[in-house]
Amino acid sequence: MKSAGLNVVRMSEFAWSKMEPKAADFHFDWLDRAINLLAENGIASVLGTPTAAPPAWLVQTYPDMLAVEENGNRVQFGNRCHYCVNSPEFHLATQRIVHAMAEHFGSNRNVIGWQIDNEYNRVCYCERCRTLFQKYLAEKYETLEELNEHWSTAYWSQSYSSWDQIPIPIGGHNPGLMLEFKRFITESYKQFQKVQIDQLRPYLSDSVWVTHNFMGWFDGFDHYRINEDLDIASWDWYIGTGHHNYLKTGAVHDLTRGFKNRNFWVIETQPANVNWTSLNNVLNKGEGRAMAWHAIAHGADAFLYWQWRSALNGQEQYHGSLVDQSGQPRPFTTEVQRLGQEFKKNSQLIAGSVVKAHVAMLNDYESRWSIQWQPHHRDFDYVAHFNHYYRSFAKRNISVDILSALSLTDASQLLEYKLIIAPALLIVNEQLAVVLRDYVEQGGHLILTIRSGMKDSYNALHPARQPGPLADIAGVEVEEYYALDEPAPVKGNWFEGKSQIWAERLKPSSKTITQVIAKYGKSNGWLDDGIAITVTAYGRGLVYYVGAYLDEAAQDEFLGRLIRTADITSIDSPDGVEISIRFDSLDKEIYFCINHKPNEQTVDFPWIAMDQISGQPVNKKLKLEPYGVAVLTTFK
Ligand code: GAL
Repeated sequence: MKSAGLNVVRMSEFAWSKMEPKAADFHFDWLDRAINLLAENGIASVLGTPTAAPPAWLVQTYPDMLAVEENGNRVQFGNRCHYCVNSPEFHLATQRIVHAMAEHFGSNRNVIGWQIDNEYNRVCYCERCRTLFQKYLAEKYETLEELNEHWSTAYWSQSYSSWDQIPIPIGGHNPGLMLEFKRFITESYKQFQKVQIDQLRPYLSDSVWVTHNFMGWFDGFDHYRINEDLDIASWDWYIGTGHHNYLKTGAVHDLTRGFKNRNFWVIETQPANVNWTSLNNVLNKGEGRAMAWHAIAHGADAFLYWQWRSALNGQEQYHGSLVDQSGQPRPFTTEVQRLGQEFKKNSQLIAGSVVKAHVAMLNDYESRWSIQWQPHHRDFDYVAHFNHYYRSFAKRNISVDILSALSLTDASQLLEYKLIIAPALLIVNEQLAVVLRDYVEQGGHLILTIRSGMKDSYNALHPARQPGPLADIAGVEVEEYYALDEPAPVKGNWFEGKSQIWAERLKPSSKTITQVIAKYGKSNGWLDDGIAITVTAYGRGLVYYVGAYLDEAAQDEFLGRLIRTADITSIDSPDGVEISIRFDSLDKEIYFCINHKPNEQTVDFPWIAMDQISGQPVNKKLKLEPYGVAVLTTFK
């Protein structure tokens, strides 16, 4: 590990049966030895609580702690995450193992951080969860009249006269019920995580952090709620089949950075290949190195490979590792070694530096779920639509922060941004509307897109046309929305193209100063000559309403102009070359220039710079080898 340049190891996240082979019989000596040996070689440890792999003896003692699937079957022992997140027996066993670990390792200076559980993902449908869900609803709504009203239960004779009649939604169900169940799952994991943090914290010094390894765009719960109790966010980055697309993964790094609005860790990534897709190809030579620098460029402070050495048996025998089954380093490990040297050389420069963005995109799990349950067009996907906007910024090397729409309480949280995009922000409550209104009033530019402002926090339609509580600042209302079987032509003032999948026909308000930016051409008759995109002046700012889902080229031209209007600096680079900036504590730029293509490329760089990787000066022309990376500081 030392010769591969590694300086941190995460372990024990599935080691319950080794640490507690029977109830309350703890064996930590092997882990002590590992931590010491690593420390002697300058390698720090991160420990995982092992709760994602409850051992056989525990399951045998409490069979009822196994989760129940949607079809009513109990999950069988033999994989991972087989627990019911609300099982009291499981909570007690969790407290015991986490407490013992905290007591034993909490003050060990070589343990710098902790990971709680591993990739929360299971949903349990057992009777206990159902009862707890009903209790959660009773506490929230207080009366059944209130609940019946918000969910329009009378519509299909679903009115409830007693809390214990309310089911857990299986498959499609009442939209209000479905949204509450997602919130209940979120709260269940938050509580389960809190049980563990409460055991750990008293034994940890302030500098020791607690995290969980999230899975990028996974949507099983509201990640912002779960992150409230963590110190840093981290994520597990796997490509699976195929290759890395930086225009997409940049968004996932930015998403994770936004969970805590601070730098994050990539706490797992694939060394060359995985084992769980239908085609487990390896990353091209050099690609893994470019990926690592790409993560750093977006605010990662560490990059960890999963896993070190192949176990001889067990489900993941074929997964990539740094050391193979014979104990020898795999070819990929030479790349890690190079990276280790580069990180070491540059860590002082990079430590403490951060990404600074003038553009923010709002992410909202509730809007996403709601659309996912009733997409109205089979091809509409919240994340794809989000990326459709993100891409135009990433291509121009413009940093983007991704923020939680629901966490916004005051426009002061937004004032550093010149431009905010709220893609498919379907659920808008009064508080969010006020924040966005204040932001625009004070000079911000806001882009609202299709499906905006349709619903309230109960997943009920607003008794108003879209964009509901945002209609006054948007200066338009949506007369009708259309799921398209054929693309509709769109003619803009400076671009031309097609609207795909979706189109909304807009009607400007007579009360605002609203200009038409684009109209539909001949289409289904209803859209013909209708208004597709507008801009409205509100206060000192601007609000765009984009009723079309533009094709790639038109979208890029359309957004290019908005980016210039908002006075946002972009950086030109050849196709496939990324230039991202982090700012050090003195506000000096560190440029990460990354060639994500397997061919050599040349970048024009406007200043004389030093490449901190090669140690060579760069005089306006930067040559990047296939998958090449340069970390530049300037003499500006
Ligand atoms: C992750 C998991 C790891 C390992 C990896 C394989 O989801 O956290 O433990 O299974 O996948 O790609």
